[in-house]
Amino acid sequence: MPDKYAVIGNPVAHSKSPQIHAEFARQTGQDLTYERLHAPADEFTQTASAFRARGGRGLNVTLPFKGEAFHFASLLSERARAAQAVNTLKFEGNAILGDNTDGAGLVNDLVRNLGCAVTGRRVLLLGAGGAARGVIKPLLEQKPACLMLANRTLGKAQLLVQNFGGGFEASTYAALAGQQFDLVVNATSASLAGELPPLPPGVFAPGALAYDMMYGRDETPFLAFARGEGAAALADGLGMLVEQAAESFFIWRGLRPDTAPVLKLLRQATA
Ligand code: ATR
Repeated sequence: MPDKYAVIGNPVAHSKSPQIHAEFARQTGQDLTYERLHAPADEFTQTASAFRARGGRGLNVTLPFKGEAFHFASLLSERARAAQAVNTLKFEGNAILGDNTDGAGLVNDLVRNLGCAVTGRRVLLLGAGGAARGVIKPLLEQKPACLMLANRTLGKAQLLVQNFGGGFEASTYAALAGQQFDLVVNATSASLAGELPPLPPGVFAPGALAYDMMYGRDETPFLAFARGEGAAALADGLGMLVEQAAESFFIWRGLRPDTAPVLKLLRQATA
């Protein structure tokens, strides 16, 4: 019997994770299955437990369940604890291991795929929800020159600074006027609604990379804005998706798949 894995979410029908993990398994010769698991909004625990009872070995967790998965895990990695969110569960004997590979996915995409060092650069992170929380620690570990967290609701950004014990600053969007950054990462959910975070003009330094964690067939409003502002490079979140999947695959199987051909395949499919 092949080992069973799945991605759990709501909605989950459009998740690319089954395709990504099927490619990783083929590439590394691993005998496993990977399915989509739709959970009703109030039945995450029941659905995940039922999958485990059926012999499931691990789950990827997507919206809106990353917070619930955090509470479902019996053992947490340090990065999951920092993010207060879990995107990877591994069932091992009686233990439910919870990890978060989103931040590593972002940093690996930036550094390895896009050739964009974070170390010594001025970084601006937009948003103070779960997506932002998941990447703060891995970004700080790269030792940027500074990390600024901008959010519409300043109090939420300030609370994150406090919870993480400092090392970065909170800001309103308006207060960014006159400042420049080498890397601007959009971790808000604005793109989902076709909206643009209220960035003042002039925040992209010469040579800056604009990175949207969202991806889709069309350019997001944030990337369109960045293009208009003269950002030197633009990237969507497809690379992060593949890289976080590779980290999950490593946690489950102890093998690191080659992400480049898988990312190329997905790009071709969305072109
Ligand atoms: P997620 O877990 O995906 O991060 P979330 O916790 O609901 O989702 O957080 C959404 C984030 O996107 C928040 O930082 C939100 O800003 P507020 O805290 O001020 O609400 C941000 N956001 C959503 N729509 C936005 C928009 N149109 N412009 C700017 N920020 C937006």
